[in-house]
Amino acid sequence: PGRSRMQVDLLAGTTHRPAVLARPVPTILVFDSGLGGLTVLARVGEVCRGADIVYAADDAGFPYGRLEEGALVARVLAVMERLVAHPHPELVVIACNTASTLVLPALRARFAIPFVGTVPAIKPAAAATRSGLISVLATPGTVARDYTRGLVSTYAGGCNVTLVGATGLAALAEAALKGERVEDDAIAAEIAPCFVERGGRRTDVVTLSCTHYPLLLEPMRRVAPWPVEWIDPAPAIARRVGQLLGADAAADRAGGHEAVAVFTSGAGITGPLRIALAGRGLAEVLIEPMPLVS
Ligand code: DGL
Repeated sequence: PGRSRMQVDLLAGTTHRPAVLARPVPTILVFDSGLGGLTVLARVGEVCRGADIVYAADDAGFPYGRLEEGALVARVLAVMERLVAHPHPELVVIACNTASTLVLPALRARFAIPFVGTVPAIKPAAAATRSGLISVLATPGTVARDYTRGLVSTYAGGCNVTLVGATGLAALAEAALKGERVEDDAIAAEIAPCFVERGGRRTDVVTLSCTHYPLLLEPMRRVAPWPVEWIDPAPAIARRVGQLLGADAAADRAGGHEAVAVFTSGAGITGPLRIALAGRGLAEVLIEPMPLVS
């Protein structure tokens, strides 16, 4: 009693659907190391109103930004093995740049469902800049990737690109969502290297290349040394998901879409976080314990 259909499905490991639905209801899995993917979930939910959505946070593995590449590939494959079995999604959004810039080829080779990744929006940043100075605000893992460096040389050859691997900003975003106090000075110190002045020109575009960072957009705007355009790729990702799933996902249906959150640890789930999750449509929270073995 009181459980949503999706939760029953997850617990029982079944995939039954009520026969009354006229259309098939696709299930979308939105995956991140923690709470950052919520910024993508919101946009996907707007575009895919007819889909069931499961949000999965590998909080036992957080932060991914510090993991060695080999360990991260192994970790994401292991967690995905479980999540693809239940809830058996039609499509997975890897709402994490740190994982997407590394693990997508291995995921696509292993599983026969579409994966939509989240990678630094370097092409849009290069198109938007007027000063020619752009900054990529990401995790240390994302800025170190060959994939990210390849995006810079392919799409931003004519720009001066500063790659900023922020060591603590994702954790600050998590703290803020959990209702903890986050000092402006701490945020200012993390984003400071993005702001570059050279030859009378200044950085005018910063790409938010970690899905956690849009959670701090308001304080980042406030503490920025000067105004810049902040690029959040989430709307583009949601449009891509909508294109891939087509009419079944886009259609409105009675009651709207259902969403449930799955955590691999759950240790950091506070009262304020539960309220924040419920406010984002995630009233049901399940724990699927998967300790990170290092
Ligand atoms: N949200 C993740 C990203 O987009 C990373 C945070 C982390 O686990 O380090 O890069």
